[in-house]
Amino acid sequence: MADKNFVEWIDNYSIGIPLVDSQHKRLVDVTNKLFKGCLGGDDEARRFFLKTIHEAVDYVQYHFTTEEKIMARVDYPDYLSHKGQHQDFVRELVAEVQSFQAGKRFVPNMMVRYLRDWVLTHIAMTDKKMGLYITELKKQGKLYTFAIKGQGQEELTG
Ligand SMILES: [Fe+2]
Repeated sequence: MADKNFVEWIDNYSIGIPLVDSQHKRLVDVTNKLFKGCLGGDDEARRFFLKTIHEAVDYVQYHFTTEEKIMARVDYPDYLSHKGQHQDFVRELVAEVQSFQAGKRFVPNMMVRYLRDWVLTHIAMTDKKMGLYITELKKQGKLYTFAIKGQGQEELTG
């Protein structure tokens, strides 16, 4: 189908924390936007990609910061390894973007597929585990809600 998205959100991706789920949906939207941009001609796709990938990297970093604040807020035991995965991914993403800018042969599809696969695997394995931990805390009555500061210092609750 021509109007089908590259990644479709399915409820199974939900980790049970509405704030994180809504940010994950936005990551899926950004990935779809990047993919659509890749369908144009070579030069056009390259310009669009370089513009949009910055938006994607910024949002990925904002989202990771949100998760890290939540993990710190609930004293999550796997905080360091989870944060380490975020840091490694951002490092790879930034290095890829820089090599494109430095003139590396442009294969946008590969980059978008990499972004999609990493995000979906990370959600399914690592974020789900965090979601289960927080759901369990709530079930045990040890956590009712949490509030953290967002990037613009707005209150984010879950
Ligand atoms: Fe994460």
